[in-house]
Amino acid sequence: YQKIGIIGAMVEEIELLHKHVEVSGVMTKAGITFTEGTLHGKHVIFCKSGVGKVNAAVCTQGLIDQGVDCVLFTGVAGALDPELEVGDIVVSTSSVQHDMDVRPLGFPLGVIPFQEISEFPADPLLVDVAVQAAESHFAGRYRKGKILSGDQFIASREAVRTLREELQGTCAEMEGAALAQVCFMNDIPYVVIRSMSDKADGGAPESFETFTVQAANNSYLIIETMLKKL
Ligand code: ADE
Repeated sequence: YQKIGIIGAMVEEIELLHKHVEVSGVMTKAGITFTEGTLHGKHVIFCKSGVGKVNAAVCTQGLIDQGVDCVLFTGVAGALDPELEVGDIVVSTSSVQHDMDVRPLGFPLGVIPFQEISEFPADPLLVDVAVQAAESHFAGRYRKGKILSGDQFIASREAVRTLREELQGTCAEMEGAALAQVCFMNDIPYVVIRSMSDKADGGAPESFETFTVQAANNSYLIIETMLKKL
């Protein structure tokens, strides 16, 4: 890849990018600041999207308009797979917008009406490189799987049960599937890396507060390791 786009939603998720990228330029568009530079010899542009699907979509299109040829997401998520512990890693194989709900018209939960696909596959090569990175730092503490995105912080066992039973999600977050849809529309490869800050249950708000920095740093470590191989 000639130019790699990297997105995090919150300050904690791009903190280590700010620390390690050798900056060559900065520009702002639609209120989003894009920082360009070099990380481990690779040309990168990174930005903080802000939280939620609209922010992620605008940010992803902004990166693509600046000529990135792949997009990586780094950040934290709530675990849905009961085998995942706080700090563990999820590498997206695909992503779905779980709050896309047109069931009254007969469309299954998560399906975008009148579109060819609603589950956006991650790029197999990027997934492979991410899995190698996860294997080297988090052996036995990572999963590949479907990421579920929605404009909701998931914080109840009932919600976790629904998302697992109806959509087979591995983790829940608020940006990945929006980024994925924009990448699909532009034919640009993507992968989402998430480290678990919480288990999306009643204890999620407290766990999120306590573990977001640590989990965000775990996710950054995967991105950094991936860059050496891309
Ligand atoms: N990001 C981190 N934890 C989350 C949760 N429980 N729900 C949605 N997004 C999250």
